[in-house]
Amino acid sequence: MENRGNFATKLGIIAAVAGSAVGLGNIWRFPYLLGQNGGAAFFLVYLLCVVLMGIPVMMAEMSLGRMGGRNASGAFKALGRPKWSLLGKMGVLCAFLILGFYYVVAGWTLEYTFQAIKFDFIGQTPGDLADSFAAFSTHNIRPIVTAVAFMIITCLVVSFGVKKGIENSSRMLMPILFIFIIVLAIRSVTLPGAMEGLKFLFKPDFGKITADVVLSAMGQAFFSLSIGMGCLLTYGSYVKKDVNLENTTFQVVTIDSLVAVLAAIAIFPAVFSMGLDPGQGPQLVFVTLPHVFNQMPGGSIFAIIFFLLLVVTTLTSTISLLEVVTAYFGEEFNMKRGKAAVVASLINVPLVVLASLSLGQLGHIQLFHCNIFDFLDKITSQIFMPLGGLLICIFVGWILPGKDLHESLSNKGKIKLRIWSVFYFLVRYVSPVVILLIFLGQFLR
Ligand code: TRP
Repeated sequence: MENRGNFATKLGIIAAVAGSAVGLGNIWRFPYLLGQNGGAAFFLVYLLCVVLMGIPVMMAEMSLGRMGGRNASGAFKALGRPKWSLLGKMGVLCAFLILGFYYVVAGWTLEYTFQAIKFDFIGQTPGDLADSFAAFSTHNIRPIVTAVAFMIITCLVVSFGVKKGIENSSRMLMPILFIFIIVLAIRSVTLPGAMEGLKFLFKPDFGKITADVVLSAMGQAFFSLSIGMGCLLTYGSYVKKDVNLENTTFQVVTIDSLVAVLAAIAIFPAVFSMGLDPGQGPQLVFVTLPHVFNQMPGGSIFAIIFFLLLVVTTLTSTISLLEVVTAYFGEEFNMKRGKAAVVASLINVPLVVLASLSLGQLGHIQLFHCNIFDFLDKITSQIFMPLGGLLICIFVGWILPGKDLHESLSNKGKIKLRIWSVFYFLVRYVSPVVILLIFLGQFLR
C-alpha cells in the first residue's frame, strides 16, 4: 500500500482528534440547543448520552479505523467485510451534508472576525447586534462569500496532508482557546443578574425532558464528539499501534465537554443579564458574545483574538470532515490527495449555497417543516450519525472477533487496558439498545 502518513506524536493525535471534536458544535450549537431545550434538563441528558454512547462509540470507531488502516469505506473491505463498506459510504455522504451547513456557520465566524477587527461591535446595543446579524445572515451574497472562503482554506490545509496540515494546526491552539473562554465565562457570571443564567444552566426541571429533548441531546453528543460517520474511523487509521486509545478517548471527551460547558457559562448569564430570549436559535452566540466583549475592559482586542481562535478551532473541524471524503476519493478512486480535496470541495459548493440562501431568500423551501439549513443539521445529527453509531457498535461488538479487538486495543498485551470489560459490555449491549430506543422514540410521538 502507498505511504498514507501517520500522526507523529501522541500529543499530536490527541490534538488532532480534539481539534476535530472541539468546534462550532461546542461554542455555537451546544449553547443554542441548550437554550431551546429547557437548559439544565438538556444538559443532564447530554452528559448521560456522552457517557453511555459517546465514549464507547468513540473508542470503537477509532479502534476500527486503526485495525482497518484505510478510509471509512475501505476499512471494512480490509477487514474482510466488503458489504459493510456501505456504512463507510454513508459516512462519506454524511460528511457532505454536514459540511453543507457547517461551512455557512464557519463563514459567519470569518465575518465576525472582520467585524471585530473593524471595531464594529463598539456602541451596539443587544438589539443592534441582533439586527446586524439578521442583515448579514440573510444576505444573498456576503455569507456565501465567507463560506466559500472558509471552504478554500480548508481545502488548502487538507491538500497538504495528514501530518503537516492537520496535526500542526491543531496542536498549539487548544490551551489558548481554553484560557480565553474561561476569561469570557468569568466576565459573564459577574454581570448584573447573571444568577438567573446559572440557574437555567444547572438547576434541572425534569418536567422539561421530552422525547424531542432526548433526541436532540443524543444528536448533539454525536455531533460534538465527531462520531458515528467515519470521521474518527479515518483519523484512527493514522494512529500508530502503540497508542493507548482508552486514554485518547478519555482526554478528548473531557476536553470536548469542558469547552461546551465553559461556552455555556460564558453565554447564559449574559443572555439573562441582557434580558434576551435563551431559545432564539442559531444566532444566540453571535448576538450575545459581542455584548459581553463590550462590557470588558480591552474587550475589542479580546474580541479579535477570540474570533480568530474560533476560526481556527472551526478549521480543525472542517479539516476532519473534508478528510473523510478526501481519504475515500484518494484511496478508492486512486486520486492524488490534492485533487481529491478539490473535487470533494467543488461538489459541496451547491449545497453550501442552498443552505446559506435558505436562511433568507429561499426560506420558503421547506423539507419536513425545516428550511434547508435546519434540514441538513437534523438529518445528519438525528438520523445519519446515530444510525452510523448503532451500526459501528454492531460491527465492533458482534461481527469483529472480540479477541482481535482486544489484541489491537492492547497492542498484543503491551498496553494495560483499564476499562476493557465495561467498554465491551457497553458496545455490545448498552449503546446500541439506547440508540435504538431514542431513535424509535421519535416515531412514537
Ligand atoms: N465535532 C465538531 C464540532 O463540534 C464538528 C465535526 C467535525 C463533526 N467532524 C465531525 C461532526 C464529524 C460530525 C461528524 O464542531
